[in-house]
Amino acid sequence: MKILVTGGAGFIGSHTLIELYKAGHSAVVVDNLSNSKPESLRRVAEIIGVPEIPFFKIDIRDRDDLERVFAEHQFDACIHFAGLKAVGESVEKPWEYYENNIGGTLVLVDVMRHHGCKNIIFSSSATIYGDPAEIPITENCPKGQCTNPYGWTKSMLEQVLMDIQKADPEWNVVLLRYFNPVGAHPSGRIGENPNGIPNNLMPYITQVAVGKRKELGVFGNDYPTPDGTGVRDYIHVCDLANAHVCALQAIARHCGIGIYNIGTGNGYSVLDMVNAFVKMNNVAVPYSIKPRREGDIATCYCNPAKAKAELGWEAKFGIEEMVRDSWNWQRLNPDGYPD
Ligand code: NAD
Ligand code: UD1
Repeated sequence: MKILVTGGAGFIGSHTLIELYKAGHSAVVVDNLSNSKPESLRRVAEIIGVPEIPFFKIDIRDRDDLERVFAEHQFDACIHFAGLKAVGESVEKPWEYYENNIGGTLVLVDVMRHHGCKNIIFSSSATIYGDPAEIPITENCPKGQCTNPYGWTKSMLEQVLMDIQKADPEWNVVLLRYFNPVGAHPSGRIGENPNGIPNNLMPYITQVAVGKRKELGVFGNDYPTPDGTGVRDYIHVCDLANAHVCALQAIARHCGIGIYNIGTGNGYSVLDMVNAFVKMNNVAVPYSIKPRREGDIATCYCNPAKAKAELGWEAKFGIEEMVRDSWNWQRLNPDGYPD
């Protein structure tokens, strides 16, 4: 299939491009580079062994620009990664988050339908479950109260896309609810390249290990978990990338609406991650216990059985590959991608 990949220069998009090409698909990337660099696409091309990945530096909110891309290419489906994703920033700039994430998606979906492309895979998040009503989380778990505007954009966009599909059953909409993506391509050529101080655990650990930050703050050790620190369902980004290829098969079968948790089903604590990282990579990660972070929950991991049963997808990589590949990327690229 020929796939439009919005946000394809970013962390998850760049890894997904590799899986798409490996599975015999082709892709065109649109990205405004607000949180990425074109170097990621150059390296993706190098890994795949093609001269370049077709790329348009455009903003999906710009209808005319998007129209031009659709005029040049006939797409079978869109994998929609483009969006802002910094939780703390979304609390400070809610308008910018709603306008970019919701506004951008509304323009995209409108241009898609005008061009007869009614197949979309959307990057949703475990955050839509709020403080989950059940553990492990199945897709039947009710959506919860999000603690920040970023989370609400995901929750609202799920509803928007479901309503559009309901009104026009020609649409196929796959909502992939990602748990906690970590790791990097095993080559160490592409990985996560956060701006400024990382919000998420794994990039913070790697930056401490490489000497860019003094110590990791562990946000709370008094949660009702085995060691008191927060438990999450970390998933290797290459496994996550592969889930999109499997979701395309569901689209090819005219799935209508498909909603899937994309995680491993294993919960690891903050200290499990730190200890696994230190042991696997033989590097020090100094840490100290800090107060809880506002909005955090104790435990979040999924039951990924539905994705296995219906998409034939399951995670192949474990915690050792996650911490190994995260470190490999950081070690080889201490300052991320060059400009
Ligand atoms: P990322 O920031 O690395 O990638 C997103 C890309 O979208 C960036 O390259 C950015 O430049 C681009 N972009 C943003 N707004 C745009 C616009 N208006 N027009 C064109 N391009 C635009 O993030 P990621 O980690 O790769 O995440 C991809 C998607 O998955 C996002 O929608 C994110 O919310 C979602 N998600 C991520 C995580 C995670 O932990 N990384 C978890 C759950 C869901
Ligand atoms: C965060 C976001 C969520 C987003 C997800 C994946 C919040 C409230 N939620 O979730 O919306 O979908 O990332 O991108 O931010 N931790 C530390 N020290 C750190 C960083 C994190 O101890 O410096 C702990 C956290 O308290 C948590 C765990 O590590 O227990 C994972 O944190 P993080 O990587 O930020 O992911 P989430 O909290 O799951």
